[in-house]
Amino acid sequence: MVELSSLLKFEDVSLSFGGITALKNVSFDVKEKSITSIIGPNGAGKTSVFNCISGIYSPDSGNIFFEDANITNMRPNKIAELGIARTFQNIELFENLSVLENILTGVHRRLDYGILSGLFYSSKAKKGELYARKEAEDIIDFLEIEEYRYSYVMSLPYGIQKRVELGRALALAPKLILLDEPAAGMNNEETEDIARFIIDINEELKISVLLVDHDMNMVTDIAHEITVLNFGEKIADGTPNEVIENSSVIEAYVGSSKK
Ligand SMILES: Nc1ncnc2c1ncn2[C@@H]1O[C@H](COP(=O)(O)OP(=O)(O)O)[C@@H](O)[C@H]1O
Ligand SMILES: [Mg+2]
Repeated sequence: MVELSSLLKFEDVSLSFGGITALKNVSFDVKEKSITSIIGPNGAGKTSVFNCISGIYSPDSGNIFFEDANITNMRPNKIAELGIARTFQNIELFENLSVLENILTGVHRRLDYGILSGLFYSSKAKKGELYARKEAEDIIDFLEIEEYRYSYVMSLPYGIQKRVELGRALALAPKLILLDEPAAGMNNEETEDIARFIIDINEELKISVLLVDHDMNMVTDIAHEITVLNFGEKIADGTPNEVIENSSVIEAYVGSSKK
């Protein structure tokens, strides 16, 4: 049974590729309305955790629960439909579409499987389209990208593209959003901006966040709880303060920076 306070339960999950062990008996929880983070050096298994949760990889063993559902081995679309959205480590957007169009694709995807699908495809399609447009505009305002609304994504600075990707995930109106290294490749100002948006997503939109990063700085500022992976195994978990003082964590980070 899933505890009431846990939105997601990742339970004893193992995953391997041929001889490579990507995850070994990894367990952690994401509590309702929390910002939970997974950190670890490159190759630790962070993206693999996301790919298991979003249904792209099938674990060799273990279970993943979301609310009351066992989502292990469920199809990616079904998992998105239950309320889990994600962004990717490398931006995956439609480069030749505008910011607005990119975010609309997220809204349309939700309308496609949601209760409004009838509205959207029926004679009332126009009403559906107006609704979608309003949803997209709200997200654009929230992320403060109004001035880029009609710009093609590929023409935009990297930090703004990352924000658009966040917008497309938000357009699914998820209960849980998975962010894979949202600050990678960003300068300090862009990183501070994205950290602020992650906090707002959690506090204002009441969406739980699972945040992956290899860099501890932003994560220790904004996460409530952190799980640390190294070579596919959990080596620590706890509050940011507990984790940064943990000797295995320090060792893993010092060790990886020597390579
Ligand atoms: N599709 C795949 N095929 C083969 N090996 C993979 C695949 N995905 C991940 N791995 C391996 O699993 C390990 C963990 O990778 P990953 O989850 O991407 O780590 P991280 O995101 O922490 O950098 C690495 O050794 C990686 O090479
Ligand atoms: Mg990764």
